[in-house]
Amino acid sequence: MLRSKSWVALDGEWRARQGEGNRWAAPASRELGRALQGLNPPHHTRFRRSVGNIFDRRTLGRLRDPVTRSVDEILDGLAQRLRGGEADFAALVAEELPVSAMGLWLGLPRADYPLLRRLTHHQAYAQELLPSASQLALANTATEGLRDYFGALVRDRRENPGDDVVSGWLRTWDELEHGDQEAANEAVYLLTMFLVIAALETTSTLLSGMVWTLDQHPDQLNWLRANPQEIPAAVEEVMRYDAPVHITTRAAAEDTVLAGVPIAKDQLVHTVIASANHDPARTPDAETFDIRRPAGHLSHLAFGGGIHYCIGAGLARLQAHVLLEALVRRFPTLRVSSPPLWEPRVAFRRLTALHVMDH
Ligand code: HEM
Repeated sequence: MLRSKSWVALDGEWRARQGEGNRWAAPASRELGRALQGLNPPHHTRFRRSVGNIFDRRTLGRLRDPVTRSVDEILDGLAQRLRGGEADFAALVAEELPVSAMGLWLGLPRADYPLLRRLTHHQAYAQELLPSASQLALANTATEGLRDYFGALVRDRRENPGDDVVSGWLRTWDELEHGDQEAANEAVYLLTMFLVIAALETTSTLLSGMVWTLDQHPDQLNWLRANPQEIPAAVEEVMRYDAPVHITTRAAAEDTVLAGVPIAKDQLVHTVIASANHDPARTPDAETFDIRRPAGHLSHLAFGGGIHYCIGAGLARLQAHVLLEALVRRFPTLRVSSPPLWEPRVAFRRLTALHVMDH
């Protein structure tokens, strides 16, 4: 489904066709229908092309040192807290690193990180499977907050252009829009806003989930300590076994039949990534967490597939690799002291607490 032209993203027109007075008419939902994941070709192609391969080898190479410095600093804070006993890994580390990485990449002030985290948490409700009215209300307010924040950022970069990512996108979009600065500002706002909200919770969930899953498999964690070169494989197996995003959604582009079930045009279908990752036809012994799987059995759909394949996969992997390397080196006796707390969500999963100790 993710790779087939018979299935399309829930774009603005699809959302408008669902009428008024439902979740698809909420401002938070309408805004999602304008951003990358809610676009279909040719609009989607235009947006993806405008940014290119944003996390190519060179960019990731350049980001490795600043991300490593962030990890070191964040882990100094964790070490300090652990001297007093327990610490919440989710709050102190997993929520901090992704916003720092995005902040470094986009040049955002550190003082804004808590605001960006809060807006992202609330906006994510609009992408939940069955959001409640109160969750949608939070998402709607967050959408306004995100528009204010990233609108101001775009205006600031237009007035003070530099060598940064957002200024570069403005130059690209000024050309694409033939000098229509309003249209270019809107496109760059949509790109920046969506990249940030797509980056934060997803990566936080991976980072906490990685520590929790490895803690549940102490033999494998010990093996990893002796074989840190296998950290990238371990991260892939965490993503396969316990994907941070469990569900994504598409609509039928035409009347079709899916696995023998007739589906009418426009009908919505949820693809359960988490389930696909446990498909025994693709992964032998799929219910077992095993970081020593042969490389060919490590593939997964945790970053999606097809034209909407996650644009930030390289950055998410970089953070997970650098963090796990530092954790196994600096905290050889770190362990989870109580099971994590999860927010009751299905699509964008979120760990709200993961208490750890170090003895
Ligand atoms: C472990 C962390 C992450 C996970 C599990 C994840 C997962 C996903 C998935 C499953 C999709 C496809 C959704 C669909 O097909 O409907 C996606 C798309 C996307 N992701 Fe990620 N993501 C992660 C990190 C990031 C980061 C760090 C960024 C930005 C720096 C990012 C930006 C995006 C964007 C912009 C899209 C939409 C792409 C498009 O529609 O063309 N993601 N991600």
